Amino acid sequence: MSAPGPGTPRVTAFAPGRANLIGEHTDYNDGLSLPFAIEQGIRVSAERREADEIVAVSIDHDEEETFPLSGAEKRPTRGWTDFVRGTLGELSAAGFELLGARLEISGDVPEGAGLSSSAAIEVALSLAVLGVAGIPEPDDRVALARLCSRVENDWVGAHTGLLDQLASLLGERDHALRIDFRTLEVRPVPLRLGDWRLVTVPSGDRHSLADSGYNQRREETDHARTLLGLDSLRDARLEDLERLPDPLDRRVRHVIEENARVEATVAALERGDLAAVGRLLDASHASLRDLYDSSTDAVEQTVARLRDAGAAGARMMGGGFGGDVLALLPPDVAVPEDAHRVVPSAGARLLDAE
Ligand code: GLA
Repeated sequence: MSAPGPGTPRVTAFAPGRANLIGEHTDYNDGLSLPFAIEQGIRVSAERREADEIVAVSIDHDEEETFPLSGAEKRPTRGWTDFVRGTLGELSAAGFELLGARLEISGDVPEGAGLSSSAAIEVALSLAVLGVAGIPEPDDRVALARLCSRVENDWVGAHTGLLDQLASLLGERDHALRIDFRTLEVRPVPLRLGDWRLVTVPSGDRHSLADSGYNQRREETDHARTLLGLDSLRDARLEDLERLPDPLDRRVRHVIEENARVEATVAALERGDLAAVGRLLDASHASLRDLYDSSTDAVEQTVARLRDAGAAGARMMGGGFGGDVLALLPPDVAVPEDAHRVVPSAGARLLDAE
């Protein structure tokens, strides 16, 4: 079949989910994180159609909906359609002239696990919709990450930072990314695991960023920053904590110490000291539980079980309040039955273009 008018007859885009080795709740505080893209992700196949609309099919939800090219109004429904509406809306607002298409969205990254299915869907949709309209991908993937993050903030209603979108767009095989959210400098750091493995284990509590305490934590750290008279919590020092009431002092202590743990993890990886990385994961978890108050009973039980099974370190991952636990397993420790290996993989890409 020949293409109806301009554009590309068919493209398929793939965007990975991400795991975050360490550096949690630091991205929206101008801090440091060390995520990596994983093999699992979201795939969007787009077929060019003549009509001035986008028909999107969610294979996982077995639902189909039609959207105007400009994405229509912002009214979060807490469903997959928010992502389509938002991506179309933000791409149009950025001046891209989109064309009609039929999209099929499918994926193998579980929702609500803390593996960032949300960023993966935003990124895969963007690449597919641009691709099928024959628009070359923007050179600046950081700008594209910002655009996708606006979808999440303004159309889905989760006031997340840039961690997930940057990891999905810039991921590299066998590397984690040291991201400095103040400068947006991204430095790939080799993640040489040898016979060690990184796994994620579902805690049983699903999390939803838009509905959890995530937005509240973000408001708290913003409030603490204002009270300290700082432009950014990156400039906060431990001696500032006595000027803050509880729980704001604990929130800020977490951010300061978590940034330091990211640097310590990079150094440990560079000298090949995976046992030290495990200890840093444990310390991150304790801080997220005790200072950031973002754990749940199910997460605690999962972390305890993984430690008992011999993990060198285990911690909650992503926005918290449920979701998956990340664990680092030494070579002699068996992978638990409900665990999934996460392997540092390449970032988002078009799989084919005709
Ligand atoms: C979620 C958000 C990210 C980040 C993490 C916590 O994954 O989407 O922006 O804030 O939580 O580190």
